[in-house]
Amino acid sequence: MTEPPGAGFRARILSALRATEAEDKAAIIAELVSETADEDSGDAPLFTAGQSSEEDIEPGRPARVELVDPRDVGRRGLGSTEGRACFLHAITHIEFNAINLALDIAWRFGGMPARFQRDWLGVAADEARHFTLLNERMRALGASYGDYPAHDGLWDIARKTRHDLLSRLAMVPCVMEARGLDVTPGMIRRLRAVGDGESAELLELILREEESHVAIGINWYRRVCAERALDPRDTFFDLLSRYLPNRVQGPLNLEQRRAAGFDADWLEQLGRVTAARTG
Ligand SMILES: [Fe+2]
Ligand SMILES: [Fe+2]
Repeated sequence: MTEPPGAGFRARILSALRATEAEDKAAIIAELVSETADEDSGDAPLFTAGQSSEEDIEPGRPARVELVDPRDVGRRGLGSTEGRACFLHAITHIEFNAINLALDIAWRFGGMPARFQRDWLGVAADEARHFTLLNERMRALGASYGDYPAHDGLWDIARKTRHDLLSRLAMVPCVMEARGLDVTPGMIRRLRAVGDGESAELLELILREEESHVAIGINWYRRVCAERALDPRDTFFDLLSRYLPNRVQGPLNLEQRRAAGFDADWLEQLGRVTAARTG
């Protein structure tokens, strides 16, 4: 039997997803990115819709990282070096998960134009770089990935949306990653306030690049809505109340959300939802 087109490529995305160390993931991702870089294949898919999967994949992660209930993840003030290392550890863990999330969406959903896989592999490469930069910074502060417990909340929503690309796009890039745009400026201010300019600069770089990830997510979300003849805004709020009803909190980073592709009506409604929750 001959392999369906793209099966080998897809299997390598899965091997990156299952690799336990970030460096191994990054090496496979870099190869896959370079192989798709010049491809301009229009709407032709790398693999077909029939090669999609609802399988519950356990993504690779280092065994030394202990996963605990979100309530048991320790928090320390940013005033001490250890406190900042612990704080950066939480963000480093988010970046590790973000590598897996980008790989999972690229692997799981076939039938999309090759650009879809290329976009998400590019995001995966960014996330791997964010992970490495943060881990290096953490080392300078005397810690490394795995020194503190972490939680699995981000993978939870990936699991809940593994059956449906539209739900995945709405909940992961358009809710979880977009939330990063809201909260990161405050983190940068807090780091600057305690004199940790190096960590602050790192988060500034990450914030700029995260805007482009949200933009990629919204772009594909809108496209899938158009294919299914759904209104993007109404559908988003339906999905939000189904999957993550208590998740979005203000204040919203309106400027970067706008730049990423949220339109005025969408943001206005989001503002009302968050105001109703916090008010
Ligand atoms: Fe990132
Ligand atoms: Fe991201």
